[in-house]
Amino acid sequence: MIPKIDPTKTAAWQALKAHFDDVCEVHMNDLFQSDPNRFERFSMVERNVFMDFSKHRITEDTLDLLQALATECHVKEGIQAMFNGELLNETEGRAVLHTALRNTTDRPVYLKSVDVMTDVRRVKAKMRAFSERVIAGDHRGFTGKTIASIVNIGIGGSDLGPCMVVEALKHYGNHLDVRFASNVDANHIVEVCKDLDPETTLFVIASKTFTTQETMTNAHSARAWLVDSIGSEDCVKNHVVAVSTNQEAAVDFGIDPENLFEFWDWVGGRFSLWGAVGLSIMLAIGPDRFEQLLEGAELVDQQVKDKGTLSMPGILALLSLWYGNFFHAETHAILPYDQYLHRLPAFLQQADMESNGKSVDRNGNKIAYQTGAVIWGEPGTNGQHAFYQLIHQGTALIPSDFIAFAVPLHRLSDHHDKLLANCFAQSMAMMQGKSAEAVKSEMRKEGSTEEEMNRLHPYRTFEGNIPSTTLLIEKLTPRSLGQLIAIYEHKILIEGLILNVYSFDQWGVELGKQLAKPILSEIAGSEDSTSMDQSTKGLLRILRNFKLDAT
Ligand code: F6P
Repeated sequence: MIPKIDPTKTAAWQALKAHFDDVCEVHMNDLFQSDPNRFERFSMVERNVFMDFSKHRITEDTLDLLQALATECHVKEGIQAMFNGELLNETEGRAVLHTALRNTTDRPVYLKSVDVMTDVRRVKAKMRAFSERVIAGDHRGFTGKTIASIVNIGIGGSDLGPCMVVEALKHYGNHLDVRFASNVDANHIVEVCKDLDPETTLFVIASKTFTTQETMTNAHSARAWLVDSIGSEDCVKNHVVAVSTNQEAAVDFGIDPENLFEFWDWVGGRFSLWGAVGLSIMLAIGPDRFEQLLEGAELVDQQVKDKGTLSMPGILALLSLWYGNFFHAETHAILPYDQYLHRLPAFLQQADMESNGKSVDRNGNKIAYQTGAVIWGEPGTNGQHAFYQLIHQGTALIPSDFIAFAVPLHRLSDHHDKLLANCFAQSMAMMQGKSAEAVKSEMRKEGSTEEEMNRLHPYRTFEGNIPSTTLLIEKLTPRSLGQLIAIYEHKILIEGLILNVYSFDQWGVELGKQLAKPILSEIAGSEDSTSMDQSTKGLLRILRNFKLDAT
């Protein structure tokens, strides 16, 4: 059974509060100065992933207390419960077993005494056979042409994960042009498809429920586009496949069961890229590399099983909780120094915020502490020329994760050296800052007058003491990417366990979906808005007027 402990009621939380008062003003510069081994003490390596967490406002006591908090909150038992297939997602009555999708061993994974691995292996074999046929040009379009483009239609977890991975692993891609359409705004699918040839395009409709408005709307438009241009309803069999837990709805849509790749309710949408939702990834990089992605994630699963909160995800979770609840940091920046990872912040936004953005605990009580942080970010160095100003000199404390690869995938080493220099310089600047004295002496050397120095030095001073983690990975490969994603997935699990929230449901997305229905009827002109609030009614009226004016 998943533990249900209010973290603020633990002895460790109270001790952390007292400890915070002692350390909150301490500057990291002093921590480094007083400990020549700080880097070694606060860093770890797992295979080819190195994590430096020495640039944090922590001491050994901080970590010990955070570990004690995890123990009091029975995190170890929670982790075990997840791997054992217990119904961790209690509000939906579901297990959380996405780790089974990346179990590449012979080990069974039981859910209510049934080994789910039989189904997992069957679907993976089907995905492999299909992908190999498409990649080899054996699966052809209705008119006999080979498939050249793939369009994944999905949203949320049925889009962000596969899209992020396909983008991240572009270097390893084959000849297939794999694209993604998610938004119900037709501008998206129109732009994605406008230069595609329907005769050589394959759509992957990815939806766990196969009822999501955005995805179904896009799927119907894609089908109409195919049928209109190819001229036969029968073309759907060659040009549309589906990924879903809802086989009935997919078949009703017209998907041939042969072209249906299933998954199960124990796979959460935002954790689903490892199974059938990863079909577009498998098509893009081939089944063998897809397998390497799984193997990377599996390595981290093992580390978490063995080390619990002493693993990389454990440390990241504890640090996140420390800043969120003691320093009251409300956001967390993800700063990948690799353009291939440009969708990672968006992917982690869903993974983390949909999981831990909760305000009711596992006992049904309103929460009085801080849960999930706002996750955001952009690849470096672009972010440096946009929002880093606020991180360096704004009033909010924003912990950051720098993610970089030591060995580039190109031969332009000059670019890569500059990229890494910027990455290391930014975390150094955030940590060290620049004192008023240093600024003044610099200005003096530049020939500034005393008046200029006194007037301008406050603007040029950096307090520093801004925390960051650096994940330095040997090289971007399918395996290391699998590790990286799984590190964050388990960070979310562990943090959610301590926060005492149900990390695997997402009721907060339902209300807006419900309310969109009557509003849609209103926009389509068949319903009266009397029951709506004044503002929404007003907006509908203005919308009608704009439309009238435009005709
Ligand atoms: O609206 C949120 C959500 O339910 C996500 O959790 C999910 O990943 C997404 O919608 C898409 O859902 P589906 O895969 O069922 O279309």
